[in-house]
Amino acid sequence: MNDVLWFNGRFTTTDERVLRVEDRGFLFGDAVYEVFKFIDKHPIFLRDHSLRLSNGLKSIEIRNPWDEQTFIATMTQLLERTAFDAGIVYIEVSRGEGERAHVFPDDMTPTGVAFSRRFNFPDAAKHERGIRLISTDDLRWKHCDVKSVNLLANALAKKHAQRKGGDEVLLIDCNIVRECGSSSFFIVKSGVVITHPLDCHILPGVTRDRVIALADRVEERLIDVRELDDADEIFITSTTLGVMPVNQIDDRAKRTRGPITAELQQRLKEAEVERRTPSSAHAAKPRDIR
Ligand code: PDD
Repeated sequence: MNDVLWFNGRFTTTDERVLRVEDRGFLFGDAVYEVFKFIDKHPIFLRDHSLRLSNGLKSIEIRNPWDEQTFIATMTQLLERTAFDAGIVYIEVSRGEGERAHVFPDDMTPTGVAFSRRFNFPDAAKHERGIRLISTDDLRWKHCDVKSVNLLANALAKKHAQRKGGDEVLLIDCNIVRECGSSSFFIVKSGVVITHPLDCHILPGVTRDRVIALADRVEERLIDVRELDDADEIFITSTTLGVMPVNQIDDRAKRTRGPITAELQQRLKEAEVERRTPSSAHAAKPRDIR
């Protein structure tokens, strides 16, 4: 594409591969972006874009690589180097590179990019003709059943929990307990294992499914936050944690691991051994199909 690219304080072109795979913008959508328009090399409403970018970064605690002056200076230089007169500039600032973990350190160095692109702005005829809309449900931020990398909300929630002395965050939505930042949530009441039903509010956890299959009595239903107080046992599950007892939620009374949690830990461990997918060394040789 060979367009001008500003990357972390230097100019290059979009031909250079600058980003690393462990950038949180790529892994978690942990980033803020901005698009401004330029005509005859003049940026349009640049201060407004600078302000929105700055507000967005502040609100999710990413350091802004620019103050307003240096932002304007950088964008002016980018446009001077750009070979065409009109188009857009795309800007993105991510929290930066680091080991893949939802909870981020406080002192990350942000990754900043800005590049110019040609753009076909609508002409007078299109502005007269107008365009057609198709409506659909507003599912933005509501597709928790998809294991998408749009994990910014999870990352921020988990950071909040860490700051409050927690190991994982419990996500409550209008008094309904959904799941955790990166694990599924269960309570046990009178011998019944209870968890949120599968819908767009939770991830269909592989471990959740296994545990449901391994439990004796299960109910998939909404859990009200008030049920947390008198649940007999509470645990969470994930690929990385297995079955993990919850020993406290917020400032509620501390609890110890219950018998059903312990039994499910044991059953899951056994199931993990039984159901191991054969590694390539042990797998049956593929048939010769010549
Ligand atoms: N997270 N819910 C959420 C939001 C998750 O991100 C995960 C997994 C789970 C549990 O799913 P499973 O049992 O399939 O691991 C539930 C992984 C471990 C992660 O992001 O690191």
